[in-house]
Amino acid sequence: MTRPRVFVTRIILDQGLKMVQDFCEADVWPEEIPPSTEVLLERVRGVDGLLCLLTDRIDPRVLDAAGKSLKVISNHAVGVDNVDVAAATARRIPVGNTPGILTDATADLTFALLMASARRIVEGERFVREGRWKTWSPSLLLGTDLKGATLGIVGFGRIGRAVAKRAAGFDMRVLFADPHPSPPEEGSAAAQVDLDTLLHQSDFVTLHCPLTSETRHLMNQEAFEKMKPNAVLVNTARGGVVDPQALYDALRSRRIFAAALDVTDPEPLPVDSPLLALDNLIVVPHIASASRSSREKMSWMAAENLIAGLKGERLPHCVNPEVYS
Ligand code: DGY
Repeated sequence: MTRPRVFVTRIILDQGLKMVQDFCEADVWPEEIPPSTEVLLERVRGVDGLLCLLTDRIDPRVLDAAGKSLKVISNHAVGVDNVDVAAATARRIPVGNTPGILTDATADLTFALLMASARRIVEGERFVREGRWKTWSPSLLLGTDLKGATLGIVGFGRIGRAVAKRAAGFDMRVLFADPHPSPPEEGSAAAQVDLDTLLHQSDFVTLHCPLTSETRHLMNQEAFEKMKPNAVLVNTARGGVVDPQALYDALRSRRIFAAALDVTDPEPLPVDSPLLALDNLIVVPHIASASRSSREKMSWMAAENLIAGLKGERLPHCVNPEVYS
């Protein structure tokens, strides 16, 4: 039997890669930098499957280049904003993703960023390394408390809920805004409000919504104007949910206290971005899911979706199940 041909757009972690290579003729892109659009268009020609990353734009051109042989797209991420899912659905191609397994890692990093911003940890570290630490001082690097503060969670899916659980341990009051929340968990003290109320009342605002045409630049100038001056914004969702110019203005003018980003627009953020000149901003390079175990699970889950699609089976995690009806 001829083995299916697939293009894998980056080297994924061990077990997932082995599963793919055992089952398929896999063309694995070996570089650190993602394949360019031209390379992607060339390498997908005639493949049966595509295993891609959030850095690859999978649009109708890519689907056309792959042609009729393409049976499955497996995205090595829970977010699928890099894939034109509607175009895949129109061609009856199932699209897989990796939900659930990165929930806790992402919620942990959200909390790490939240606390680092509240207590100015990165500024403090820089202060020490730059030799500016002369003595203990009552007014040195004052931050904000978590206990009793209000945390506003925008997007109350798996990750938003996991963040709410962590907030309960810090005695925070939790609000959430979500146009389509699933039923609240038993014992959850989180209260649903509209986005305006959340922005007006929260000391910390954390974003956990997908990037869609409705959420692009949800955090714009108008939204920042509704926030408290002591507020901290954390974004571990997608960079495009925040308007970078509006964020810059809000931080620079101290309209808000601080922000911490795991995701930026664009990604990577250029080193000469004006945002990086701000002391009240922390940026890390899209590492919310980067615990070894989460990334290993993402890798095998992406491999599982790919292989199921190649076998003509239903993907274990499919974002467009309507292709099966
Ligand atoms: C995802 O899976 O969508 C995450 O952004 C990866 O960290």
